[in-house]
Amino acid sequence: MLVDYIREYVKGECSNTAIGREFYENHLILVAHYGIKLAVETGADPEIVELAAYLHDFSFVIDEMNMEQHETKGVAIAEKLLKQFNYPKDKLERVKHCILNHSSLARACGASPEEACLANADIMSLIAKPDYWVKISSLTNQGEENSNWFYEQIAKSWPLMMAPARAIMEDKFNELKKAAPIMA
Ligand SMILES: [Fe+2]
Ligand SMILES: [Fe+2]
Repeated sequence: MLVDYIREYVKGECSNTAIGREFYENHLILVAHYGIKLAVETGADPEIVELAAYLHDFSFVIDEMNMEQHETKGVAIAEKLLKQFNYPKDKLERVKHCILNHSSLARACGASPEEACLANADIMSLIAKPDYWVKISSLTNQGEENSNWFYEQIAKSWPLMMAPARAIMEDKFNELKKAAPIMA
């Protein structure tokens, strides 16, 4: 199946570096996991969400210089990749929209059900793995505000998340609130 091939391809590319390997295990696979779960619960297409989950941040796995524009670069990569499999054009467009809008929860939630699932799953994976994200933000940012980035993302995203996503993550979110006064 195409989703299996894309998963293994992305996993293989990520395994070229230790950072990539950790990113796959702590983020991409979890975004797919939560994205599929939300798709099933909300009636979105799980295949679209799963493909977009593996590919949504893939552009900066390949080249970290793509970070700033990783959504648009990711769209171009997904298009090239999926066209090789003659993936139907209408489905391809839906995958591309998920990737393009994944960083804006507000925009994605007002768009297609698949876009909403992916953007929510992206934040759910942050809530699921706080230790990983605090570590990553301290590697990528200098200074003492390192972990604040992570907690601020969660605090500002939580009210925008869809109800089924909040229901799944509620316990973990409450644990984080206790651990980080910034979120109270
Ligand atoms: Fe992203
Ligand atoms: Fe992501």
